[in-house]
Parts: sequence; structure tokens; C-alpha cells
Amino acid sequence: MKCEEFNADKLVELDKKYYWHHLTQHKVFETQEPTIMVEGKGCIVKDVHGKEFLDGVSGGVWCVNVGYGQDTIAEAIYEQLKVLPYYAGSAGNPALLALAEKLTSLLPKLDKVYISNSGSEANEKAFKLSRQYSRLKYPSQDRYKIIFRERDYHGTTLAALSATGQPERKMGYEPLVPGFMGIAPAYCYRCSFGKSYPSCNMECAGDLEAKINQEGADTVAAVILEPITAGGGLIVPPDGYFEVIQEICQKYDVLLIMDEVVCGFGRTGKMFGHEHFNVDPDMVTMAKGLASAYMPISATVIKQKLFDRFLADPSDTMHYFRDISTFGGSAAACAGANANIKLIEQQKLCENSKEMGDYLIGRLKELESFPIVGDIRGKGLFVGIEFVEDKKTKAPVSEKVMGQILGNCTAQGVLLGKMNRSIPGFNNVLQIAPALIITKPEIDRIVDAIKNALEKVK
Ligand SMILES: Cc1ncc(COP(=O)(O)O)c(C=O)c1O
Repeated sequence: MKCEEFNADKLVELDKKYYWHHLTQHKVFETQEPTIMVEGKGCIVKDVHGKEFLDGVSGGVWCVNVGYGQDTIAEAIYEQLKVLPYYAGSAGNPALLALAEKLTSLLPKLDKVYISNSGSEANEKAFKLSRQYSRLKYPSQDRYKIIFRERDYHGTTLAALSATGQPERKMGYEPLVPGFMGIAPAYCYRCSFGKSYPSCNMECAGDLEAKINQEGADTVAAVILEPITAGGGLIVPPDGYFEVIQEICQKYDVLLIMDEVVCGFGRTGKMFGHEHFNVDPDMVTMAKGLASAYMPISATVIKQKLFDRFLADPSDTMHYFRDISTFGGSAAACAGANANIKLIEQQKLCENSKEMGDYLIGRLKELESFPIVGDIRGKGLFVGIEFVEDKKTKAPVSEKVMGQILGNCTAQGVLLGKMNRSIPGFNNVLQIAPALIITKPEIDRIVDAIKNALEKVK
């Protein structure tokens, strides 16, 4: 249905009466209207009142990578729905098998594909696989611990949340799952060790070895990392970081899980974020951009050596991966993912992400003279601006200031993102992650909106 066909007042009433918004304090709706989105085309979304916005965050949470209104994806899903919408993931189906082949060709060092529904779930699979694999490989040890990095986010389910380095996301939901412990972020702007790159000896990466030794190497199954920390502040690790991580993982035979839920599918200017670095993960998890959110789907792609460890005589009834996900393997979702990846390749959207991302960062550098612009960083069309009260002390701006900047951009018709209940006192990074089809004039509009907003900050 198009927005002209809706009764806006009725929808607002239904929203207030029945719908519980994600990540939202509903008290605000006593004085303001909830947002209701109705349609989208390209990088533009329209709300229930017909107001158009330039969507600088690809569906709010960086997932509509190819933009709205891509008919080939919608048609592929529709055609598949007519033929076979679904059959359980204990069986294959043509769309799923085509997707599995495609993902392993995009990730040539990985060999097997496990399908589920969300980023959290893809990470849960990775954790379960890591624990069971390690126990099968080292039956005399108990390798179950998973190490994560502070500031990274890995999902909303309780184990994924336990693997998340964002304290505000966890508060109130404890006790969390045991066996998850954090290491220092790879955050040069605010180095945990008070050092400067490159003379720092990469202590943040070395923290992994320290943590493994502290916990006991015979208790650690895996480490999970985002290639670029997304919601925790858009943090790009320094060159050489992943080489050290890789070496440590190999030394202690700890599995390396790369969470590509955000960075995957062109977001950072390459098909996968970790391709920017010299690293060879044992598992890669992906979700958002996999079908550009036209359908919910995620995947955990793993190395053959892991898969082989689960092979045994069928009479050994506990030796296989005893995991199931009803909707994991939906043929229609796989068809959507296939059409989405085809479109990313045919329209060279990774290349456009790099080109437009470089242009965006170049234009944002014009804002460096504003006293509150502390750091501008990112790769491809995944860019953050860290706002500070003082460039020397790097004291973060308040959430009120962040709210002003974002609200002002929204009022100008440009939707951007910000850290939301992540790190106490440090929710001070603005996020820009438009669809990969974005054009230079649209980027100019984003930068102009931010500039206008900064001029009004009090
Ligand atoms: C890096 C990362 N991993 C995992 C997730 C969880 O994905 P989902 O919300 O689909 O469960 C997110 C969500 O934002 C994410 O940013």
C-alpha cells in the first residue's frame, strides 16, 4: 500500500495503542508522534504523512544495502514463494544450495554454510559450534570460553549479549551466560593503554594473548570480533591488528569468528569487512546486508576442518551439530539473498561504496574545524563522527548534544544514526551508513545537513 492509501491518524492511534517499539522509551510518545514509515525508493523513505527523508542509515540499522524498491529482489522472492516458500533446513532446496555455493565462492577459504534468521542467531550458532567442536577435538579439556572485544556488539539473545562489549546493552538483563570475557578495544583515538600507534606494539591485540593465558588456554574455544566495530563507536582497527590476533589464535588453537553482520555485503567498500585486513577467520557470520533486509536471513559460514570434526558413525548419536532453526533455510529468504548478491555484483556496489565513502569522508573533513568534531573515521559507506566537548581532553559531548544534532538533521529531512545505550557516558558517535547506491548529490545533502546542525549546537 502507498502512503496516500493510509489513514495517518488511525495508524498513529494503532501504533500508540498496540506497538512496542524497539529500543524506545514510550513515555516520549506522550509529547511526540511515533515514526511510521510507509514506503521507500532508492535512498528515500516516506513516512505516514508523506514526508520524505534521505535515509543515511539504510533502514535505521545499516541493512538495506541496495536501497529500497529493488524489483529484481522482490520478484525473485515472489517467484520462489509460488514454487516452494519453505521446507525445513534438515533438507536442501535449490535457492538455499545456490546461496551456499555463492557464499563459499565469495569466501573461498570457507566451505560450509549454516542458515538462520538474524545476526544474533548466526553468532549463537558460531558459539555452539565452537564449544562442541572444541570439546570433540580436545575431549580431555573443557574449552568452552568465548572471548569478545569491548565495544563490539554481537546481538540481543542472551549468549550474543554476553559476548557484547557494551555495558548499557547488558544492564538489567543479568545474570548473563557464563564463559564470555572481554579484551581491550582496538581504539586508537582512546587507547586503553595510553599509547599511540604505531609505537604501541599493538597492545590491544596482545590483550588477547594475556586473556587466554589468564583464563587458561585449555579453557578457551574461540574469539569473536567485528572487522570494524559498528554500534560501539565505528572503530576501525589499525593496520597489523588482525595479523597479531591471527597469530595468537593459531598459537593457542583458538577459533577466530568474524562477525560480518554489519560490515558484510559492501558496507565498507569490499564484499566483506575483513578483506581490508590480512586475516583468515575460521567462521564468518553475516545477516543484515545478506538479503539487504528484503527478507530476514543470516548465515554462519565455516571451514571444512570444523565440519569434518562433526562427522562420525551415525550410531554415535551425540556427535553431530544438534541445532535447528525453524525458519533457517526459508527458500524465499535464500532467493532474496541470491538476487541481492547478484545486484551488488552487477551494479558494482562494493566499488560505489568505496568511491562514495571516500567522497563522504573527504567532504566530512571540511567539518574538522568545528570545535566539537573530535574524530572522523570509517571505511566505504560506513563512517562515524566522534563528537567531543574539548579536542584536547576528548571529553565526550553529552547525549543531549547528540540528540540535538540528530534531531536537527531529521528536521532537515536527513536520517542519521547515533550510538544508543551502549557505553555509559560515551554514546557520542554519529553514524552515517547510507545505501550503497547513493550518489554524490545525496552525500552532499547529508554533509550539508550535519554542517547546519553543528552550526546550531548550543
Ligand atoms: C555486529 C553485529 N552483530 C550482530 C548483530 C545482531 O544482529 P540481529 O539484530 O540481526 O540479531 C548486530 C545488530 O546490529 C550487529 O551490529
